[in-house]
Amino acid sequence: PTAGGVDPLPLLDLAIRVARAAGAELLRRYGHVEGLDTKSSATDPVSDADRAAEALIVRELLAERPDDGMIGEEGADRPSGTGITWVIDPLDGTVNYLYELDNFSVSIAAEDADGGLVGVVHDPRRDITFTAVRGGGAFLDGTPLQVSAPASLEKVLLSTGFGYSPERRAAQGALVAGLLPSIRDIRRIGSAALDLCAVAAGRIDAFYEEGVQHWDVAAGGLIAREAGALMTPIGLTGAETGWLVAGPDVHTWISAALEDVHRAL
Ligand code: IPD
Ligand code: CA
Ligand code: CA
Ligand code: CA
Repeated sequence: PTAGGVDPLPLLDLAIRVARAAGAELLRRYGHVEGLDTKSSATDPVSDADRAAEALIVRELLAERPDDGMIGEEGADRPSGTGITWVIDPLDGTVNYLYELDNFSVSIAAEDADGGLVGVVHDPRRDITFTAVRGGGAFLDGTPLQVSAPASLEKVLLSTGFGYSPERRAAQGALVAGLLPSIRDIRRIGSAALDLCAVAAGRIDAFYEEGVQHWDVAAGGLIAREAGALMTPIGLTGAETGWLVAGPDVHTWISAALEDVHRAL
């Protein structure tokens, strides 16, 4: 049990079960998307799949924990009567989902007064699940995860993503372009939650994105931190919510390299 007296393990089991059920719902709808709409800009899509997955998650969490709080990308918003709040991205990687590219996920975190307590990211197309409990390490289907430790900046494979705001895209694109000559390469996986799990698994060395929302990083951030990553806010484009996430050495190198690029722009 944590200081607040909540045993995280039943929360973890619940989150895994619900994330997998939402993943099954996404797979059922995959390839014949309905109810397509846009949100903050013309490039920001939402569909019945996003909405149905969130409705399923909220329904199943509330069935077991009726007094918990909820924050979800597609509108879930309930105050907490227990000190626990669920932070939900029912479909992270909607653009990939719409284009039938496999990199999308279901992201569910439980938070208490000290922040992330439980994090679950389920990858439906690969049928794999990343998990973490605060203080208990990070796992991929039960196998412990550890961040990478590349030898130098030139060996760093950096994952990034671009939010839906055109101005921020241009600014962040310029920063990432400036890093390219100094690092191994970049990836744009298309799901911030999967980016963070890839950092946790040592498959990606660093993640940097500005303009993400809390539900994009709540579960994956805990998973990355529990695998040894540092996660610090970064706001070189003026975004309020940017993150740099990597093992300690890589974090230092990328942070300095981004500052250099920013100064030279
Ligand atoms: C998006 C994805 C993407 C990231 C965007 C997010 P969504 O979430 O995580 O990788 O670059 O910033 O908004 O809209 O697909 O849930
Ligand atoms: Ca979205
Ligand atoms: Ca998201
Ligand atoms: Ca989403």
